[in-house]
Amino acid sequence: MGEQPEPDVFKVSVLNEESIILGFHLTKIMFRDILSNFPSSTYVLITDKNIAPIYLSRIIDNFREVISEMSLDNASKLRLITYLVSPGEQSKSRDTKAEIEDFLLSKACGRDTCIFAMGGGVIGDLVGFVAATFMRGVPFVQVPTSLLAMVDSSIGGKTAVDTPHGKNLIGSFWQPKRIYIDLTFLETLPEREFTNGMAEVIKTAAISSESEFINLENGVSNIREAVFSKSNIQFQGATLATRTPSQSLLLSVIMASAKFKADVVTHDERESGLRGLLNFGHTIGHAIEAILSPELLHGECVSIGMMKEAEIARNLGYLNQVAVSRLCKVLQDYGLPVSLDEKKVKDLVGKKFCTVDKLMEIMKVDKKNQGDQKKIVMLSSIGNTYEKKATIVSDSVIRKILSPAIKVLPFTSNISSTHVTMTTPGSKSISNRALILAALGNGTCRLKGPLYSDDTQVMMVALQKLKGAKFEWENDGETLVVTGGGGSLQVPDDELYLGNAGTASRFLTTVCTLISAETANQKKCTILTGNARMKQRPIGPLVMALQENGSQIRYVENEGSLPIEITPSQNKFKGGKMNLSASISSQYVTSILLSAPYASEPVTLSLTGDKVISQPYIDMTIAMMESFGIKIERLEGNIYRIPQGKYTNPSEYVIESDTSSATYPLAVAAITGITCTLPNIGTTSLQGDAAFAVKVLEPMGCTVTQTETSTTVQGPPIGSLRPLPNIDMETMTDAFLTASVLAAVALNNEEKECITRITGIANQRVKECNRISVMVHELNKFGVIASELPDGIQIHGSKIQFLKGPVDGVKCHDDHRIAMSFSVLGCVVPDGTIIREKKCVEKTWPEWWDDFESKLKMNTVGIDSESHHDSIIFIGMRGVGKTTLGREVANALNQEFLDLDQHFEAILSTPIPNFIEEHGWDAFRAKEFEILRSLLNTHASDYIITCGGGVVEYPPSRELLKQYSQNHGDVVHIVRDINDVIRYLNRDASRPSLSEDLLHVWNRRKPFYNECSNIDINTINTFGRMTVENLVEIIRKTRRTFFISLTFPDITPALKIMPTITHGVDAIELRVDLLSENGDIPSVEYICGQLASLRRSSSLPIIFTVRSQSQGGKYPDTQETEYFNLLEQAIKNGCEYVDVEIHKSPTLIENLIKMKGDTKIIASWHDLTGTMKWDGEEVRRKFRAAHNIGDIIKIVGRAKCLSDNFRLREFVEWQQQHIKKPIIAINMDVEGQLSRILNQTFTPVTHPLLPLKAAPGQLSVAEIHKGLHLIGQLPKKKFYLFGNPIVHSMSPTIHNTGFEILGLPHHYDLFESENVEAVKPIIEDIEFGGASVTIPHKISIIPFLDQISVHSKSIGAVNTIIVTENETGRKLIGENTDWLGIFYSIKPLIEINSETVGLVIGGGGTSRAGIYALHQLGLQTIYLYNRTQAKIEELKNQFPKYGIVGLSSLSDEQIKQKPPQIIVSTIPATSNIEIPYELFASGKGGVIVEMAYKPRRTQLLEKGAEKGWIGVEGIQVLIEQGLCQFEEWTGRRAPRNIIEENVYRKYNNIYS
Ligand SMILES: NC(=O)c1ccc[n+]([C@@H]2O[C@H](COP(=O)([O-])OP(=O)(O)OC[C@H]3O[C@@H](n4cnc5c(N)ncnc54)[C@H](O)[C@@H]3O)[C@@H](O)[C@H]2O)c1
Ligand SMILES: [Zn+2]
Repeated sequence: MGEQPEPDVFKVSVLNEESIILGFHLTKIMFRDILSNFPSSTYVLITDKNIAPIYLSRIIDNFREVISEMSLDNASKLRLITYLVSPGEQSKSRDTKAEIEDFLLSKACGRDTCIFAMGGGVIGDLVGFVAATFMRGVPFVQVPTSLLAMVDSSIGGKTAVDTPHGKNLIGSFWQPKRIYIDLTFLETLPEREFTNGMAEVIKTAAISSESEFINLENGVSNIREAVFSKSNIQFQGATLATRTPSQSLLLSVIMASAKFKADVVTHDERESGLRGLLNFGHTIGHAIEAILSPELLHGECVSIGMMKEAEIARNLGYLNQVAVSRLCKVLQDYGLPVSLDEKKVKDLVGKKFCTVDKLMEIMKVDKKNQGDQKKIVMLSSIGNTYEKKATIVSDSVIRKILSPAIKVLPFTSNISSTHVTMTTPGSKSISNRALILAALGNGTCRLKGPLYSDDTQVMMVALQKLKGAKFEWENDGETLVVTGGGGSLQVPDDELYLGNAGTASRFLTTVCTLISAETANQKKCTILTGNARMKQRPIGPLVMALQENGSQIRYVENEGSLPIEITPSQNKFKGGKMNLSASISSQYVTSILLSAPYASEPVTLSLTGDKVISQPYIDMTIAMMESFGIKIERLEGNIYRIPQGKYTNPSEYVIESDTSSATYPLAVAAITGITCTLPNIGTTSLQGDAAFAVKVLEPMGCTVTQTETSTTVQGPPIGSLRPLPNIDMETMTDAFLTASVLAAVALNNEEKECITRITGIANQRVKECNRISVMVHELNKFGVIASELPDGIQIHGSKIQFLKGPVDGVKCHDDHRIAMSFSVLGCVVPDGTIIREKKCVEKTWPEWWDDFESKLKMNTVGIDSESHHDSIIFIGMRGVGKTTLGREVANALNQEFLDLDQHFEAILSTPIPNFIEEHGWDAFRAKEFEILRSLLNTHASDYIITCGGGVVEYPPSRELLKQYSQNHGDVVHIVRDINDVIRYLNRDASRPSLSEDLLHVWNRRKPFYNECSNIDINTINTFGRMTVENLVEIIRKTRRTFFISLTFPDITPALKIMPTITHGVDAIELRVDLLSENGDIPSVEYICGQLASLRRSSSLPIIFTVRSQSQGGKYPDTQETEYFNLLEQAIKNGCEYVDVEIHKSPTLIENLIKMKGDTKIIASWHDLTGTMKWDGEEVRRKFRAAHNIGDIIKIVGRAKCLSDNFRLREFVEWQQQHIKKPIIAINMDVEGQLSRILNQTFTPVTHPLLPLKAAPGQLSVAEIHKGLHLIGQLPKKKFYLFGNPIVHSMSPTIHNTGFEILGLPHHYDLFESENVEAVKPIIEDIEFGGASVTIPHKISIIPFLDQISVHSKSIGAVNTIIVTENETGRKLIGENTDWLGIFYSIKPLIEINSETVGLVIGGGGTSRAGIYALHQLGLQTIYLYNRTQAKIEELKNQFPKYGIVGLSSLSDEQIKQKPPQIIVSTIPATSNIEIPYELFASGKGGVIVEMAYKPRRTQLLEKGAEKGWIGVEGIQVLIEQGLCQFEEWTGRRAPRNIIEENVYRKYNNIYS
């Protein structure tokens, strides 16, 4: 080792002493200084166990060397003792402090001890505190080794330890004698710890010095180099002569930071006001840290805190957006997180979550705040603060900034007086183009008023990483100074991450092909990548054009999207003749144009495809290129010739305001009636959207004044915008969302249709999200009727008072335009509108919410709304109704819906049939798999995803689904009677038919579906009629299900009581061991006979159980082979469930499982001995064994006392957190009854009519319900009938009978009212459980509901209100069961085929339900007769695809040619319409459904009966639809037979 040179140091004074010394390689001068100035007999060096192995021995050597150099008198007596502490925050404790003190005492350290604290902040704080109290205080020296300690913790004299109550709660002020900041230590500091310290460095610069901040902005790579690249020159940096520029920069940056802290401490040692400035980012940062530590480090939390606090300053008007973005960029550049939503943060913190309430609560108890008075440092610009201390900020502002969602409140100011003048952010399109032009150009260009947003920032970072240009700020950031690199570019060190910035990804793709192999570091290539959505957005046509031109571009993941890898080639971007398809995005064209002058040959670009999209954007590019000195020639037929050359940067370029953004304030004026002036957008604008005011707002009724450079809009009075019947927005596609929300409230004076149709916007399907479909979906949530057009959207205007902000808020899909347009609508929505993911506006207008409030005078509040659920996948045959159910379940669960097929088509921009034709089925399945796999990453939560029927045909997809269902979310198999499916599919010839026979396909796929899913749902038969609520319960696994155990020796005599004993149950268990054939063990034939009779008398699933003697049954344990034979027989007979006892032979069980097909296994264990304890080892063993075998696990024990049931529940609840299979767990005996009440899946039940109970303690369904009610698990609900007149209604009889039979605590009452408003207090009551709705309220009730079902929407009326409740609140949903009553009355009575014709008589509301029911039954032709023909036309328009044929009379020629087989009559029996016998001429007979029920037998029914037709009386239909309602409300099968009995009795009492 060479002789160490005398280092050059800097000194900084603190508290008026030059005690801070900075430099490199300082150990020796430190010892010289301390030994001469603080002579002691004992020096103690305390450090941690990470640092000691690296540095300690050298330091001890240095100490010895110094002693010998100095030739001190007492050299022999001097001692240096060392003590090591475990690294980490947990060492900052009272215990460790005591250990150190004991150590010191044991070493006889006295008052003349001097202590060195060598380490990070933990060592500094801890050891400082030891020094402060040891012997009432001994001198100590700080030797900070972490960056944080160098710039922060070592300075100021604060020392402390933590306690379980909080950090730094016990401590004192104790100033170190010296602070030796030796940057050499940083070499070994882990990178994340360095980054952590940078947060404090950036903080200090932000509050104290713009020039330091600029040093940081420009010094990113140098500073990192100084720290991380190891030098091989010894003692490099110790002297000025050996110090590299990077080292000098690092030193100056650290010194500035340390100096500022030292200055503040000097002026305010005991922290009164000034010192509070250092707390910038810490008020919020500490609150985050309290939750996310130790996963997130202090600096990382402070980094996020600084962003939030800067946003608060911006919101309050102290700070501009430029400063916020600069802060954000610097933090990111040094690798710090800026938001809690970042992937990096989420990966680190896992499931920990910062709710706003929790953060506020923590801030409240923070010692620096005083309860509701939160103190936050307000930046006023980079380098300055609003006050020289922290500023008091109100809770509502903090809450607003912290909240992920925002609620827009309706506009309240005085309209006439409001005139707003505001500038909007710079154009994103122009800013992005200007950045590229200036970067590629020669010279310096001052960009005035560029946009500061995520998008442009991403672009700047990328250009910097490509070493293509230098950026600096002037004028408080109003000006961006770009020094162009003249087109010379280099492969960046790491990949270019572009987030969701579409423009940057397109423009940069061509730019990256300009890197030539000579300038590139060998073999390296440029990778462009983005977030999950970016990875789905198309870039194919551009890449293809460049590939054809010879550029080497490769897709890294999915064909056609980012990430892509660009390899520099010898002759870079070749140029010459190029072709490009321009019908999807004009950005592809711009991308090539911008880089074209730098190609090796002059470029001639021909645009191909049917239509060039968004020509104005291409014109913009051309105009801007001209401003930078390159003139493009446009030839006939969309051909552009671009000369070679270099851009000459104009010294100044003024960026226009963004006209797409401008549509929002103008639209606020339009919708609220205020006046808004934008001073920098006018008729001469480069951007197409500038025409929005004139082309859209004026015709909608606004007053528009436009000059060359300004636009003023005054809206009409609230509620008087007019619809635009047809508007083509091709030249301003981005503005369609703004137009759509205005259309939602646009009405005509007359009662005519208020429809706005916007076309020409097909490209909006491939933006940040599928904007057309999202717009439709979100508008529907407001109660606005909207639908998709092939290249646009159609919207029915609605009265403002009927608008309803969705309970769960608008979901923005990370799309700024969705967020901003719905905030416009929110200005008038009566109860306010929640906008989720409010941050997404940052893409183009980061300060939108601030401007919305401060400039547009709107009111908002913060809402903390996010809760997440795993996505759920629906699989099943085509035609089973996956899509409809998927949508409804998504609605009910507040999740989003996504159809894999549609997604496939959107990503590849090609219809599936075309894809298959071109590439074949195998390629389709492989692609489908790929897309599904990536979806499960990108859409892992909050989605319901439906898959095409054949997804299970491809083994890798099967494996994927299986894995998903076992480890993540649920995979739900939707099953429907295959014959219904076939009929349904045949109805619609336009769907591509499967080449194989459907039955065949079904049989092949059945086991596949079974293998992939963990839940299956039979849409019709399994649990009665399946409703969305039932589905949700099944999916959430909260649905209670019951099975009845049949204990008869022979079930045949009992078949007649089957309808009664199965009331409320979900399955029937056949206890085979209890059967007896003439007193003997029954034969296989006998059992098959019993199964067949059971099937005939009930459609419920069958559980086949042979219970052995040792398990509490009657079957001999010795007959094992016979036992398995029986079970096999059951599987062959199609029993849905088979009970398998787990103690039987493992081999035989295994064989049985192999052949089980789609039968589910209930793996059971019964402990008869009563020795199994629910908290013991045995039950866990049995449980595991059952889990290995069964689809359902059944464990039965015995209860000796009540608490055995509690232990059982604890066991089940614990298991349920870990496994997904359903569990049946009960205790036998009377003491175990509570466990039967609480069990959820397949609780075995008995019925009073059974000969004996299958097990001791068994209860009936009614008893269980009563039990649940009494223990508060089934609250009483009130149900009503709303209508007028209703005195004679049968509904109370239907429902109250059902409630009583099933033991439900509910009650149903009449509520007669003329005026629909009267129901309001009833439906708002928390006890309200639901209602039937009849005339005259079926339509007028709709505005009172939160949502209406697909069926009600199609029919246009609601007859049932359902209440759903979940975490996000309570929702009232409108449903229609009228059609279901008709549907189920017809379905069992007639076979329907493609020839079946139906007739509906009447044109009112009921006839709509009739038409809908016939369509749902699969009819392709529906005759419609009504006296007024106009009604017929209206219905034909309402159901354009239903094959409705209008009849002029009931003897119409059509009827004679092709008579109907189903007649639905919806006219009153009193209308004396003539029924001709021709109606019944179809040779095969038919079904009449009569909706009138007074009298029971109408003329139509009588005449039909004469002709042999089956008649369904009105009263039967009424009962049928009532049963549907009952089932929707209770989720239980209605006790039909008794309800019918009671209704007919009542009917006869009234009418005869
Ligand atoms: N007193 C104050 O004014 C003040 C101010 C800010 C923070 N703090 C305190 O500082 C502590 C955090 O300090 P920290 O971030 O330095 O944590 P730390 O002391 O735990 O150090 C971080 C990690 O880096 C390691 N390390 C440190 N220097 C190293 C080096 N040169 N080479 C290799 N490894 C090295 C450490 O062993 C540790 O694992 C907290 O307890 C905080 O409360 C105090
Ligand atoms: Zn800090």
